[in-house]
Amino acid sequence: MRRKIVAGNWKMNKSWPEAQELASALANQGNQFPTEVQVIVCPSSLYIHGLRGILPSSIALSAQNCSQHDLGAYTGEISAAMLASMGVTHCIIGHSERRQYYGETNEIIREQLDACLKNNITPLFCCGETLAERDAGNHFSTVSSQIQQALFQLSAEQIIGVVIAYEPVWAIGTGVTASNAQAEEMHAFIRSFVANQFNQSVADSISILYGGSVNAANAAELFACPNVDGGLVGGASLKAADFTTIIQAAQ
Ligand code: 13P
Repeated sequence: MRRKIVAGNWKMNKSWPEAQELASALANQGNQFPTEVQVIVCPSSLYIHGLRGILPSSIALSAQNCSQHDLGAYTGEISAAMLASMGVTHCIIGHSERRQYYGETNEIIREQLDACLKNNITPLFCCGETLAERDAGNHFSTVSSQIQQALFQLSAEQIIGVVIAYEPVWAIGTGVTASNAQAEEMHAFIRSFVANQFNQSVADSISILYGGSVNAANAAELFACPNVDGGLVGGASLKAADFTTIIQAAQ
């Protein structure tokens, strides 16, 4: 069966001393995390190696992005092979901020996914519609096309190794959360879309996380939705106490 997962996306936040402080607080609170919930921390790639020495091995570390290329003259980029060689096990792929600000297309995202899988890195694949797309009634077609273009070249065995995060763009960093009904509706849609392409047992084994203004107060009801398998948390993951409450809400 699929796992409950709570991942904290720190984005471009925290100085190195602040990152160490947050990681130490999480390490201290780790005994309060339910064992059945997989906890993932996604700091700046610069900090991953240093934080490995602070966080217990039960907490996975994830990059926030990687290059679609294997190696070569790509100044400023980090390859999936480099991440793997540093022991990184997960990588966020296709975050809407990457799509929006850095021009990452579904094609690039598909290549990044392939690069991760080739290097045994679990992709946390993000999809989600803008407010304009939802208002126009195009949210299902937007999300299905993102999934189809990035994931449907994979084999059944490979897609089982992908975590999907539904992050409606209008809910990210806005304080506006999708309602439980909106989240459940889209998560159920994503699962049936995957089931149609692969099969039900594949779809049932994929964790689908919700992201977008998840906080300590709303996490429990969002995670209680049958097709919501946890969360990809931005702002609230920057506070150890809030992130701990969110992790506990996923059990
Ligand atoms: P917020 O939780 O800050 O809305 O960010 C969500 C997100 O983008 C996680 O990847």
